[in-house]
Amino acid sequence: MPRNRTHPLPHSPMIPLFLLFLAVSFHSSFASSTAKNFINRGYSLSVEDHASVLASLDQSFTCGFYLVGSNAYSFSIWFTNSRERTVAWMANRDLPVNGRGSRVSLLRDGTMVLTDVDGSTVWSTNTTGTKVDKAELLNTGNLVLKDPSGKILWQSFDSPIDTLLPSQPLTKSKKLVSATSKRTYYSGYFSLFFDSDNVLKLMYDGPEISSLYWPNPDYSVFQNGRTSYNSSRIAVLDEMGRFLSSDRMEFMASDMGFGTRRRLTLDYDGNLRLYSLNELTGLWVISWQALAQLCNVHGLCGKNGICLYTPQPKCSCPPGHEMSDPSDWSKGCRPTFNLSCEDTEKLRFVEIPHTDFYGFDFYYGPSTSFESCMKLCLGNCTCKAFVYRLTGEATCYTKSALFNGYRSPRFVGNLYLKLPTSVETSETLVLGGTDITCGIREAETNMGLLKTLDAGSGKTKWVYLYLFLCVIGAIEIVFIISGWWCLFRGQKVSKLIQNGYHIIPNQFRKFTYAELMKATKIFKEELGRGGSGAVYKGLLGDNTVVAVKKLEDVIEGEDAFWAEVSTFARVNHVNIVGMLGFCSEGTKRLLVYEYVENGSLSKNLFSDASSNSNGEASSLSWKERFRIALGTAKGLAYLHHECLEWVIHCDVKPENILLNRNFDPKISDFGLAKLSQRCGSGLQVSRIRGTMGYLAPEWASNLPITTKVDVYSFGVVLLEIVKGIRLSSWMVANGEEAEQTRFLWLVKKKIECGDDSWVEDIVDPALKGQFNKKQAARMVEIGISCIEEDKSKRPAMDEVVQFLLECEDGPKLPTLDMP
Ligand SMILES: *[C@@H]1O[C@H](CO)[C@@H](O)[C@H](O)[C@H]1NC(C)=O
Ligand SMILES: *[C@@H]1O[C@H](CO)[C@@H](O)[C@H](O)[C@H]1NC(C)=O
Ligand SMILES: *[C@@H]1O[C@H](CO)[C@@H](O)[C@H](O)[C@H]1NC(C)=O
Ligand SMILES: *[C@@H]1O[C@H](CO)[C@@H](O)[C@H](O)[C@H]1NC(C)=O
Repeated sequence: MPRNRTHPLPHSPMIPLFLLFLAVSFHSSFASSTAKNFINRGYSLSVEDHASVLASLDQSFTCGFYLVGSNAYSFSIWFTNSRERTVAWMANRDLPVNGRGSRVSLLRDGTMVLTDVDGSTVWSTNTTGTKVDKAELLNTGNLVLKDPSGKILWQSFDSPIDTLLPSQPLTKSKKLVSATSKRTYYSGYFSLFFDSDNVLKLMYDGPEISSLYWPNPDYSVFQNGRTSYNSSRIAVLDEMGRFLSSDRMEFMASDMGFGTRRRLTLDYDGNLRLYSLNELTGLWVISWQALAQLCNVHGLCGKNGICLYTPQPKCSCPPGHEMSDPSDWSKGCRPTFNLSCEDTEKLRFVEIPHTDFYGFDFYYGPSTSFESCMKLCLGNCTCKAFVYRLTGEATCYTKSALFNGYRSPRFVGNLYLKLPTSVETSETLVLGGTDITCGIREAETNMGLLKTLDAGSGKTKWVYLYLFLCVIGAIEIVFIISGWWCLFRGQKVSKLIQNGYHIIPNQFRKFTYAELMKATKIFKEELGRGGSGAVYKGLLGDNTVVAVKKLEDVIEGEDAFWAEVSTFARVNHVNIVGMLGFCSEGTKRLLVYEYVENGSLSKNLFSDASSNSNGEASSLSWKERFRIALGTAKGLAYLHHECLEWVIHCDVKPENILLNRNFDPKISDFGLAKLSQRCGSGLQVSRIRGTMGYLAPEWASNLPITTKVDVYSFGVVLLEIVKGIRLSSWMVANGEEAEQTRFLWLVKKKIECGDDSWVEDIVDPALKGQFNKKQAARMVEIGISCIEEDKSKRPAMDEVVQFLLECEDGPKLPTLDMP
């Protein structure tokens, strides 16, 4: 238990904490310009003097007392230039000291000690009796104690907290431990460490259970691209942004290169993220993260809790349960009933679709019928619920405890929760408040906050924004719940499989080159050709029709390729083309996708479609067009926002939007950005020539590439869907302002004046007036806002989805009655 060392502040307790942070950071940034980078033996730093800090020679790190609560301080090292103070190391994270009288001293006997107001030692180094004569803060962020010859006898790099800095190795006996919540620094439940099998892992180690969740516990060490044969157990992030571990875990920052400040942090939500500092704005940008889906973190929602995407990850309680501690999701949910298992007549099962609780299966049976699975659970007091899963053959899992719950459309199975018949279950899931947030969304939000403050427009905007977000959130939740119910109520098991969710990682496989040669009849039928390679039609042994893409310019090394591919294989959404497998042999790299029947949007939309124009163009009805726009937006929002922010498509255009049998859109070619390093360094525009019209202005300038480049491209596509012709060709008339640009400008003005006479002029004449005017007007309006020159004015993809949903036909009403 941490000792309680907090004392009331001498000022009014009403002062908002962030003002304090601002005040303190002002002090320190002012002070750091004059601060030294070392102290000698016999000197100390005092908590009361804000100028009493060390600054590294290049000013990038500061070391001193850091405010962690009201009047509570920790001796820390932080990044000098990040806008929000970011701590890289702490001596006393679980034992903060008083804001008066505390000091850290380099004693004459060579020890560095941290003492509290009462003189008690809170922390000290193991250098007593050595020749240490100075403490120095290096440019790497390492605080070192040196002897006169320069030999390092102690260093802060040896005792990491939750962050690893470049060149700081993670070794055998060390681990990163997350903080408990966003602004606290106490040790939390998640850790990163080398396990006894030499593999680097993430673990939840809570009061009730421990559970490993990364790398994917369903896969073997090899399947995860790791090895357990190298026992050196060392991992390090280098100055370039490349991380290499002795178990072959390897990744690169999306903005790889020298000169960027980075940190690898195990965040309080259990995800491991690499951040890069933008020195101009002082904001952190995520350049890699371990888990694409935050709900795969174990322990996040506690016992009985379920993590779901709304689309932001959120915790919820199943029917008949309530939050154990309304302020803390890690404590989970408790039942509001007593389960007596004697009288099976008084029990029933409630279905929660696409939901699983990981682990605690006391029975696992493939090829078990639903009825026998239910009987197994009903007759056994140990059984709290069962999961019935439909991957290939039906599988039954009975659960003796409910932990690590999550719900995802990608999970092909349902949870059946055992409840007494007396428990009312008129509602489905009980949603919690704001709890888990994706890191990057916070980063973006912070950017917004600071901008608003800079503009001096004060708090009111924020109230509106939060109200707006709440309303959007509420609409979204209603939509999702109602959507699920409409979709799954009363449906038979077999039908579920047809809903586009059937490709799951288990079916993901490695093909041989010979196999794919045979399937494609030696690459006979070319379906198309994109920036990353040509695509061929193929027929697998089991009569599945597939599309096989031959990659050019791919990353080297089979392991790295496999690691990347398996990441993308887990990306699964109805509006994204599913990946079935891959082939990597010698220099050959191939990807196998599901086959999408109706070809690309460009083929279906433009009458001038270059290659095989067969006169059927522009046959898309208005309803189909709207559905395509909405589906594409949903797919992109999924890539950008379900904690997958680092997946930027980079090449959104009608050629990369495929249409299935029912003309539902499926985005293709995403993620290849990473595999072929097309998006990476930014200035490779020439390599995606031919799609100039879809490129955001950032590509041509030196601005960082963010998800907003996809928003821009989507805006162009949206306008094209309405207009039925390539807008791109007009948008880039050399030199003088193109006619279309001026037209769009006029439309914008008219929208501002509430005039909608322009709608008829802009909609594709091929529709012969058969369209929904309100939708068309809104789509144009959204399209125009997406192609704003200034990327901060463009909406985010999840907002676009929301805007489109608001004008969708026939609002879906929530149906909450149980089957
Ligand atoms: C202090 O501890 C570190 C890490 O355990 C060790 O590497 C170092 O040699 C120790 N220093 C002394 C002077 O004992
Ligand atoms: C084990 O990993 C280390 C660090 O990555 C590497 O230097 C070494 O060569 C590896 N050993 C073997 C046998 O692969
Ligand atoms: C469940 O049983 C306990 C003790 O047997 C009792 O205190 C509690 O009120 C019961 N709860 C409900 C909801 O019946
Ligand atoms: C319930 O399941 C547990 C775990 O398999 C088993 O040990 C126990 O005997 C079962 N009880 C009954 C009544 O079948």
